[in-house]
Amino acid sequence: MMRQCILGSAVLVIALSVFSSLFNFTQAQPQTAKATTDPYEAGAINSIFSKWRILDKVDNTQWNISGEICSGAAIDTTTTIDDGTYNPFIKCDCSFNKKTTCRITALNLAQNYLTGSLPPAIGNLTRMQYMSFGINALSGELPKELGNLTQLISLAFGSNKLTGSLPYELGKLVKLEQL
Ligand SMILES: *[C@@H]1O[C@H](CO)[C@@H](O)[C@H](O)[C@H]1NC(C)=O
Ligand SMILES: *[C@@H]1O[C@H](CO)[C@@H](O)[C@H](O)[C@H]1NC(C)=O
Ligand SMILES: *[C@@H]1O[C@H](CO)[C@@H](O)[C@H](O)[C@H]1NC(C)=O
Repeated sequence: MMRQCILGSAVLVIALSVFSSLFNFTQAQPQTAKATTDPYEAGAINSIFSKWRILDKVDNTQWNISGEICSGAAIDTTTTIDDGTYNPFIKCDCSFNKKTTCRITALNLAQNYLTGSLPPAIGNLTRMQYMSFGINALSGELPKELGNLTQLISLAFGSNKLTGSLPYELGKLVKLEQL
């Protein structure tokens, strides 16, 4: 009776550890799988960028235009958008959808001699927190779709050739600390 009981618990312990290692294995998968940029956001950022022209040669770009946008410095947690190490610069947060999807959280395009206008598609980058495109030569009006970026903490667009008034929709940016 005693022996059977010990044997029974041993079998149970082995079964449990096999089960838990299987479980750990399946749990570990999403972490090891490489996270990729939300395809919708990748489409939006590429369409926006294609409408702009950079008049001057940009030396220290860390923007992976041709490949995976959220890669390299964009997902390196040791560099922040404020460092000024790279410009143009983009930052992503890859914790979405069980760490398989990256979304764009910061965009620094300041002082890049950009011309063109800000397209309404900018409003699709809804996880954006820090966005700077000041000191360029952008023209036209600020799109009202900027009001869709409700996670924005900082928005900079000074020193451009923008016209018109501030969109009423900017009032929806309740997290904004700096304009
Ligand atoms: C982004 O937004 C615009 C209008 O605000 C829309 O026409 C477009 O289909 C959206 N999607 C992408 C990927 O740009
Ligand atoms: C750009 O993306 C490609 C794949 O999409 C990758 O191989 C390459 O390392 C990336 N470059 C940088 C600078 O992150
Ligand atoms: C984005 O903003 C426009 C104009 O303010 C609005 O009509 C549209 O519904 C918004 N889209 C989303 C997905 O919030």
